[in-house]
Amino acid sequence: MQRIPEPELMNDPAQAQAYAEADFSEPHDAFVATYREHFPETRGQVLDLGCGPADVTLRFARAHPDCTVLGIDAAEQMLQLGRHACHRAGLSDRIELQIAHLPHTPLPHEAYAAIISNSLLHHLNDPMTLWNTVAEHAHHGTQVFVMDLLRPDSPEAARALVDTHAANEPDVLRHDFYHSLRAAYREDEVEAQLRAAGLGVLRVEIISDRHFIVYGRVA
Ligand SMILES: C[S@@+](CC[C@H](N)C(=O)[O-])C[C@H]1O[C@@H](n2cnc3c(N)ncnc32)[C@H](O)[C@@H]1O
Repeated sequence: MQRIPEPELMNDPAQAQAYAEADFSEPHDAFVATYREHFPETRGQVLDLGCGPADVTLRFARAHPDCTVLGIDAAEQMLQLGRHACHRAGLSDRIELQIAHLPHTPLPHEAYAAIISNSLLHHLNDPMTLWNTVAEHAHHGTQVFVMDLLRPDSPEAARALVDTHAANEPDVLRHDFYHSLRAAYREDEVEAQLRAAGLGVLRVEIISDRHFIVYGRVA
């Protein structure tokens, strides 16, 4: 199935609200658990690219009490929901959320212990935006961990995944999930993107019927 891009930003208030209210506990807990399998220890400053309403950011911060996290996203609607969630969780002192539209907004250059990202790649018109940002901000030893959707073979396979994993979700979310699957990248495409960004040291691994991860340490 050919890739069909979807709109980059999630700035529509209803879409952002539905996304923030959805139960992503299974994939987001899997994000943190799989991260820890690969990187048992992380201390210091972490950069979360395309943090949205900060659900992964919060789960990551809870699991890593010695980390502070800078989450960036281009959608102010998402960040507002994320700031409320961080406040409610009592983690505003360790999580900062900033508006930034990649690749146009420069990000702070810090010695990031880790750069993480969940479900940003398939939104990008140019996937190199993510990998060039990682390459620019990773220092010696930075732990990189990215999770995203895998494009299925056919529209029917995409529909079946929506029925399996989002049967009881609101229509707006089922619609987003279907179009996200069609906008997602395949393993070989991601490997080529990594080589083009000089990030060939990172590994790509399929971890479920709909997700792959990219992980490794930048030398
Ligand atoms: C599917 S959401 C994922 C949010 C969050 N990481 C999560 O897993 O719940 C993708 C997010 O990427 C953001 N985004 C898309 N393109 C972007 C860009 N060029 N720069 C910054 N953020 C972007 C969108 O606004 C949206 O909040």
